[in-house]
Amino acid sequence: MEQGGSSGSAAARRMGRLASHLRPPTSQMEEVSILRGSNCRAKGAAPGFKVAVLGASGGIGQPLSLLMKMNPLVSVLHLYDVVNTPGVTADISHMNTGAVVRGFLGQPQLENGLTGMDLVIIPAGIPRKPGMTRDDLFNINAGIVRTLCEGIAKCCPNAIVNVISNPVNSTVPIAAEVFKKAGTYDPKRLLGVTTLDVVRANTFVGEVLGLDPRDVNVPVVGGHAGVTILPLLSQVNPPCSFTPEEISYLTSRIQNGGTEVVEAKAGAGSATLSMAYAAAKFADACLRGLHGDAGIVECSYVDSQVTELPFFASKVRLGRSGIEEILPLGPLNEFERAGLEKAKKELSESIQKGVSFINK
Ligand SMILES: NC(=O)c1ccc[n+]([C@@H]2O[C@H](COP(=O)([O-])OP(=O)(O)OC[C@H]3O[C@@H](n4cnc5c(N)ncnc54)[C@H](O)[C@@H]3O)[C@@H](O)[C@H]2O)c1
Repeated sequence: MEQGGSSGSAAARRMGRLASHLRPPTSQMEEVSILRGSNCRAKGAAPGFKVAVLGASGGIGQPLSLLMKMNPLVSVLHLYDVVNTPGVTADISHMNTGAVVRGFLGQPQLENGLTGMDLVIIPAGIPRKPGMTRDDLFNINAGIVRTLCEGIAKCCPNAIVNVISNPVNSTVPIAAEVFKKAGTYDPKRLLGVTTLDVVRANTFVGEVLGLDPRDVNVPVVGGHAGVTILPLLSQVNPPCSFTPEEISYLTSRIQNGGTEVVEAKAGAGSATLSMAYAAAKFADACLRGLHGDAGIVECSYVDSQVTELPFFASKVRLGRSGIEEILPLGPLNEFERAGLEKAKKELSESIQKGVSFINK
């Protein structure tokens, strides 16, 4: 049967739209018209937020992108990496959840990937190999985070930014310096992801106490490397007490959880699956805050006045503008006070290293 000219071209346009995820847009104009056009599928879905994952093809990036595609608060999901985003995007886009997924490949497409985003999650970088400390990663990951944050400052300066790339103790100060230089820095919107430390602490404390880890809440403060990870076992909810041996075992296991995984993977990378879970949990908390939900409190490494250091991880209350309140540390016991002093010394050096990287 012969098709009429107008219905034929309508069908061709429909086919073009359906296949568009396989062909990332090449210009900003094209991207904006696709996302804002009357045919954007996001419009038919529940209203939601636009989220970008930078480093989406990696060990963390792929499962994190999958989990964000499952989040009902997400209406548009942008996947950016320097490799493999067409494949990851095609794969994830087949999930029958609401978010529209688009892929962006390589530096020339970074700006299109960032334009209009409400939340940007950064797991881009290289992971730790056995024998490497987080600081060994510094130079490569510092450069990657700088480039990505320059893009954020230009294309979505009001987005909430979740930094996963290690060493978080330095990459968050690096992001802050980039945003300061660009004149877009809002400390309420920059958050270092330390949720994996809390997730591990809840799991290990749950094991020791014989409780469901979902019912356990351990505040973990300080930073996100070795001794800077300071679990406050005196403030565990539900209230409980530990023997000195349990405190020593739990503190050491929580601080060295990353190394436990790096060694077990024996050269095949660092924590990716538990990290993706933790990052998705934290991103969901940020989105619920943006959405206006009340009482959302998570630990995060942020610009802070809780101690004399410019950055520190502690409990923060999330809301429509990002961080709405940084909660005080609460009473620490002697063991925790000693841990805090050690943590602050190392943190101070890592912060300085990050600041100097941008201002050298
Ligand atoms: N915050 C945490 O708790 C935590 C936990 C585990 C790992 N990490 C860190 O997360 C990062 C990623 O770990 P992974 O295991 O997913 O590594 P990976 O090597 O599997 O993936 C990293 C991805 O980043 C991409 N990438 C590299 N340069 C990029 C650039 N300039 N722009 C965009 N993407 C780029 C790579 O192509 C790759 O796909 C590492 O820095 C790792 O140390 C953080």
